[in-house]
Amino acid sequence: MITEEKKEVIKATIPVLEAHGTEITSTFYQNMFKAHPELLNIFNQTNQKIGDQPKALAMTVLAAAKHIDNLDAIVPHVVGIAHKHRALEIRPEHYPIVGKHLLEGIQEVLGDQATPEIIDAWGDYYNQIAQVFIDVEQDMYQAAAWDGFKPFIVRKKEVMTPDIVRFTVDSDDVDKIFTAGQYITVKVNPSGYPYEALRHYSICSNDAEDGITFAVKREVVDDNKGVVSNYLHDGIEEGDALFLSAPAGDFKVEEDHDKLLFIAGGVGATPVMAMAEEAVSKGKDVKFVYSTFNEDHLPFKDQFEKLQAAGADIQVKYSDTEGYLNSSDFAGSDDREIYLCGSMRFMTPMIAELNGMGIDDSRIHFEPFGPKMSMQKV
Ligand code: HEM
Repeated sequence: MITEEKKEVIKATIPVLEAHGTEITSTFYQNMFKAHPELLNIFNQTNQKIGDQPKALAMTVLAAAKHIDNLDAIVPHVVGIAHKHRALEIRPEHYPIVGKHLLEGIQEVLGDQATPEIIDAWGDYYNQIAQVFIDVEQDMYQAAAWDGFKPFIVRKKEVMTPDIVRFTVDSDDVDKIFTAGQYITVKVNPSGYPYEALRHYSICSNDAEDGITFAVKREVVDDNKGVVSNYLHDGIEEGDALFLSAPAGDFKVEEDHDKLLFIAGGVGATPVMAMAEEAVSKGKDVKFVYSTFNEDHLPFKDQFEKLQAAGADIQVKYSDTEGYLNSSDFAGSDDREIYLCGSMRFMTPMIAELNGMGIDDSRIHFEPFGPKMSMQKV
């Protein structure tokens, strides 16, 4: 446990961290990858480039510093991150590597401002935070449906829109246990790419009769093709094997939420689709508002039809001709619990629209595609 004196030192560094947090974590990543290039097999290099990952870690460290007198306040955030760590096979022996390079990053960016006293206090505090993660993750490793990455055979590959493909994968060797809203993690080794690459994809149907289904959008950012999504679209066919780690994630419909509004944009429909299917099967009152570019870009047509036939109220809005979702699309939903999912660019204005309608954050449950802590209010 960190001493009271060291707690005061940590608290005093909050303004400096706020000013330099992202710079420190960016420096830390560069130095860590230089010393441990094997970690490039685990980290998503696209998230590194766009800066969301450095920002997410900075936000977490900052949250931990702000809540030093009551670390319990950050436990819900730790759980979400720990699910991702478990799915990526992050192990206790990785933590000292991150700790060493994080402290060196603080030293490098702050220079003389980072006194030995500050470095010492942060060293102790980092170890305390790391232990919280290690303990939570240990329980998750024990509860996981299977250990490590297991081979699955691609049973179906269905092109749903010009840029979204749905895969159904199966294995006789594992129990395909998951809860609606969870994701699987795929490990691939695309030709021409020097590392292994890991990506999380939400399970997109609650029905696992033929295997686990997940949908992949072909990613192209500034003319750069997403390494994994393009490989899955172009290089993986029915009959091929894919390595998956066990389902993870804490995005789910709470048992006592009976009137629900699901909001999704684009491929963000994936976890919400499974959650809506589960909710309908439990007799819950489901409304689903979905935004996509036009009818050609409408995925999951078969699943939407089944949901509607089962009593769900489905509203699709085409941004090409009808514009983006706004508060008028959510009218009459004041008594519903809201679950939403999409890109970071989609989520932020949606949450603002809902807040503008007087809907409190406590009723808005969301899963962004990307590091959640980079948009978290702490
Ligand atoms: C993801 C924090 C330790 C590897 C994340 C995220 C956060 C975070 C906030 C983003 C989660 C999200 O996507 O919502 C932390 C903190 C740590 C820690 C506070 C220490 C106390 C580690 C260690 C490793 C690691 C020891 C392994 C060397 C990763 C990887 C991701 C991740 C690979 C996914 C990021 C990506 O590929 O984009 N972590 N982490 N983390 N973390 Fe950690």
